[in-house]
Amino acid sequence: IKNSSIKFRSVKTLAESPELTSIPSSYTFTTNPDDELVTDPDDDDPIPVIDYSLLFSGTPDQRAKTIHDIGRACEQWGFFMLINHCVPKSLMEKMVDQVFAFFNLKEEEKQEYAGNKNVTDPIRYGTSFNASMDKVKFWRDFIKIIVHPKFHSPDKPPGFRDTCAEYCRKTRKLGRELLKGISESLGLEADYIDRTMNLDHGLQMIAANLYLPCPQPELAMGMPPHSDHGLLNLLIQNGVCGLQVLHHNRWINVTSTPNCFLVLVSDHLEIVSNGKYKSVLHRAVVSNKATRISVATVIAPSMDTVVEPASELIDNETNPAAYVGMTHKDYMELQRTNHLYGKSVLNQVRI
Ligand code: SIN
Ligand code: FE2
Repeated sequence: IKNSSIKFRSVKTLAESPELTSIPSSYTFTTNPDDELVTDPDDDDPIPVIDYSLLFSGTPDQRAKTIHDIGRACEQWGFFMLINHCVPKSLMEKMVDQVFAFFNLKEEEKQEYAGNKNVTDPIRYGTSFNASMDKVKFWRDFIKIIVHPKFHSPDKPPGFRDTCAEYCRKTRKLGRELLKGISESLGLEADYIDRTMNLDHGLQMIAANLYLPCPQPELAMGMPPHSDHGLLNLLIQNGVCGLQVLHHNRWINVTSTPNCFLVLVSDHLEIVSNGKYKSVLHRAVVSNKATRISVATVIAPSMDTVVEPASELIDNETNPAAYVGMTHKDYMELQRTNHLYGKSVLNQVRI
């Protein structure tokens, strides 16, 4: 492609090139011995399912049990499925449809949002993670949009902005309510995380991913193992599986029921809880059949908040702080200059 308005080659452009039967070597991952440890969840240790409605409309006993279950899920998995939540199914579907429509725009139109590759660019269309730095590219195109404290949106496709605004309002409320239950599960006041992380001005980001069918799925990666920045990642997908979470040293295939959120404990919650809750390592695999869309909503502290372990959870003798405090902004800057791999960023604030 000679057009100067094209700043990078998307996976979509590549995947749709005629007669593509193998992937370029720049997309080939060397086989990882961990890959043998992929399984479906065990019947006796299923992926935790949390019924959100019981936090509000249940009996006091049901609420207490739900908070206990949330704590257990955060501690043992760093991950759970959330059902009976407050986001309408039709809105979730519309959001996924709009993301699909965005990726179906002409390449030149999307590339207007290719930006300067700064993590703080309000709208960023890209591929891989940090295509200029990644040694091996990922079989993934993305659009990342900062939607709070200031709302941004691409102007195309028609309807994207309104759907995105509505979806973000609803998911922010969901995330903040969930964090109240999570605070309580840590023995903190319900509004502890909301208050100390300044969620009135909190960063919220949408990261929407497109994983097209790949002719050699076993050689490519949608996303390599990593954990997310922020407190929680509220993830939805288009009904196609591909997410795997690491649990007891095995990669568990996540099969989700329609209309649920996949909730991932992220790095800042690990820090605030002083390591009681661990951010979940996860990755996305690709297939040679279906196109997968996932939409992640990152609920995160305000950019200037210093994120550190809750003082209430620290005891210098028995449970000293395990992470140094760092502003969210500096944390994101670290992420920009690191490879997306494992807990490469979180490890830098560990004491
Ligand atoms: C993510 O890493 O946040 C998204 C992974 C996925 O596409 O499921
Ligand atoms: Fe992630």
